[in-house]
Amino acid sequence: MDKEIRRKSIATILADGSELVGKKVDVKGWVRTRRGNKNVQFVALNDGSTINNLQIVFDLSRFSEEELKPITTGSSIHVQGTLVASQGKGQSVEVQAEELEIYGTAPSDYPLQKKGHTLEFLREKAHLRPRTNTFGAVLRIRHALAYAIHKFFNDKGFYYFNSPLITASDAEGAGAQFQVTTLPLNELPLTEDGKVDYTDDFFGKMACLTVSGQLEGELGATALGLIYTFGPTFRAENSNTPRHLSEFWMVEPEMAFYEIEDNMELAEEFIKYCINYALEHCKDDIQFLNDHFDKGLIDRLNFVVSNDFVRLPYTEGVKILEESGKKFEFPVFWGADLASEHERYLVEEHFKKPVILTDYPKEIKAFYMKLNDDGKTVRAMDVLFPKIGEIIGGSQREENYEKLLGRMNELGLEGMDWYLDTRKYGTVPHSGFGLGFERLVLFVTGMQNIRDVIPFPRYPKNCEY
Ligand code: 4AD
Ligand code: MG
Repeated sequence: MDKEIRRKSIATILADGSELVGKKVDVKGWVRTRRGNKNVQFVALNDGSTINNLQIVFDLSRFSEEELKPITTGSSIHVQGTLVASQGKGQSVEVQAEELEIYGTAPSDYPLQKKGHTLEFLREKAHLRPRTNTFGAVLRIRHALAYAIHKFFNDKGFYYFNSPLITASDAEGAGAQFQVTTLPLNELPLTEDGKVDYTDDFFGKMACLTVSGQLEGELGATALGLIYTFGPTFRAENSNTPRHLSEFWMVEPEMAFYEIEDNMELAEEFIKYCINYALEHCKDDIQFLNDHFDKGLIDRLNFVVSNDFVRLPYTEGVKILEESGKKFEFPVFWGADLASEHERYLVEEHFKKPVILTDYPKEIKAFYMKLNDDGKTVRAMDVLFPKIGEIIGGSQREENYEKLLGRMNELGLEGMDWYLDTRKYGTVPHSGFGLGFERLVLFVTGMQNIRDVIPFPRYPKNCEY
């Protein structure tokens, strides 16, 4: 091998192809396929930098069959050679191999031999599935979306604010939290009245993994003005659906001086920005997913970015559902928490557009949402998407100390004086929302199951790797 030739990624070689023709290149990657005859062998090489493979041509006057034998699907190799214009169809350039180094062979029990494995099969091989075209595409899109999120907020003057993952408060009041403890579970220390005694626990009190960074985010926003969190959140709900994970990533912007209308405007602009970013920067990957899984994907993405979202109060949404004449599995009535089937009816059948549903009954929403003048509804907003249902949940926050305290007392929430202090000292109107990152990735990739858009999904009875 010639040490002077610097390695290039396959993405770079394919992008700069015409300038590099005639030059020596150095490539490394994993073999997708090898085929050919007694005179010439073709290897499709992939290094993860792009969905596209680079064709390596081995001339059998230069390499022996014996030398090429270990190059099977899944093996890893290093090649130097000359980049030439390709005579074959399917690629514009290819490498005429001159030097070969084999890093690792892949015996015939390599699980990803053939194309077209089912997604269920690949879920059981989650440690290897990033090497498939499909998961390569999904993971590159996931990365691009994460970058777009940081870029969007940074460019708007938001600060990235890190809320804790281990917490002693329950942000959503839902009680579906995972506990964090170092207490001996076989002999739990008990208090006199038979409850768990946390005095000797690591934190000296009950602690859990966070379900949301919002409450701490509000502390950031009432100091820095505009903040966003972006980190893992954990929910111990027993939800075995294609849209729920036990560990998922959430993006939570929180804005001082924003009212509900500003919040809706930001949410719509934000989500369109992310989708546009992916459309622009992940063309090949999105095209691949469109061609192989979801023929309507690109049209759907373009449709969402080029249309205004419908804004509709919950009360009107319920009326539409009641008058739809549709048989739903779950009943609809004013006060009901809407199920995914209801949300999707509004979005996919009635409006045929994303919908921002607002002003929900206070009973079905979290304690911190601002009460409307009617005394019955709160300034909530859920953004509902085709195929996904709820992608964003947010609200204007109750900034009135007395009202917030009253609501917390009603619900028996205690030990949150630190949160109430934001309303006690220099309170301001403020708003925020949470975007489920995997739901966004699900929408942009057109995948059907949220377990296929995160490298190592966690869900009930599954914690591999
Ligand atoms: O609607 P949620 O529960 O809202 C909050 O947690 C607020 N604290 C957000 C805020 O105002 N700062 O969750 C927000 C979003 C949902 O709209 C959904 O996209 C996603 O998080 N989400 C989940 N995604 C995957 N798996 C789950 N189990 C999810 N639960 C919620
Ligand atoms: Mg919600």
